[in-house]
Amino acid sequence: MVRCSAPGKIILFGEHAVVYGEPAVAIAIDKRFRCEMSFTHGDVTTINGMVFDPEKQNYLDRAMVKLGIDESLEIYTSTELMSGAGIGSSAAVTVASLGCLFGLKGDVDKGTIAKTAFEVEYEVQGGASPIDTSTSTQGGCVVISSSKGPGYLWGVSKRGTTWNIHESDIPKLKLVLGNTGVHSPTGKLVGKIRQFYKRSDYAKDIVQEMGVLVQKGHQALKDEDLEGVGRLMDQNQRLLSCLGASHPKLDALIDAAREHSYGAKLTGVGGGGVMIALTDEPEETSKAIEGAGGKAYILSSTKRGLSFE
Ligand code: PMV
Repeated sequence: MVRCSAPGKIILFGEHAVVYGEPAVAIAIDKRFRCEMSFTHGDVTTINGMVFDPEKQNYLDRAMVKLGIDESLEIYTSTELMSGAGIGSSAAVTVASLGCLFGLKGDVDKGTIAKTAFEVEYEVQGGASPIDTSTSTQGGCVVISSSKGPGYLWGVSKRGTTWNIHESDIPKLKLVLGNTGVHSPTGKLVGKIRQFYKRSDYAKDIVQEMGVLVQKGHQALKDEDLEGVGRLMDQNQRLLSCLGASHPKLDALIDAAREHSYGAKLTGVGGGGVMIALTDEPEETSKAIEGAGGKAYILSSTKRGLSFE
């Protein structure tokens, strides 16, 4: 039997632009997906006592196909991560499931798991960057860039784009997450923005501008310049809005949070889902978010990525 867990993540800078090879910065959060798997002598694979449904469990199904698992499995799962919100639930499911599957085969290398998890997400969502899956695997702060630098972990390539994955040491941040409650599947909005990007120079310029902003944001994080980080978060939000990734409910929560924050922006796919605010006043920020109709959570980051338990 193998039991493991993987964390969700939030993107501090660079969502959407990272799909086209621009840099991004993400941190793992202290909310996890857990799973346990063992081979069984039964004829069917079960999950939490029910017959496994490949349509419903598409990430897990794809992971089993990728690893050529044709034996029946007994699987148990539990999660602290809401899905379709932008906090990396599908990445955590994929990474922890692959952790168990590779574990059953007796072969657990984090780089291989992260790369396979990216392939699974890419196939299920019809396009993705490795930011979610690498952050969930590694934990802590993960930076993606087109060139290799200090803290290099592994590289991932797909269709002419190479993403170099790095770990980075940044200070602990006080962040509040605000959930709009609007479900926003990643694949759908990534696909829509891809169409915009393909046919518009304006969209390409925005994406490039985001890349420059992400590098400044990472530097401000390393310098512990929270005012600078907040200002860049606000700018990142404006660019994301221009790309079509925001939503009126996100805008309302972001506006409300800003009064008590260094800065605020959507995080993850957008189009609904969640926003984050960087603040020294998490209680006041939470109240402001709830006052604007959102559900607020004070977040802690975690250094713990994929873990065998
Ligand atoms: O909403 P999430 O957690 O699936 O994050 C998506 C981040 C994007 O940049 C929009 C897509 C990607 O795969 O990088």
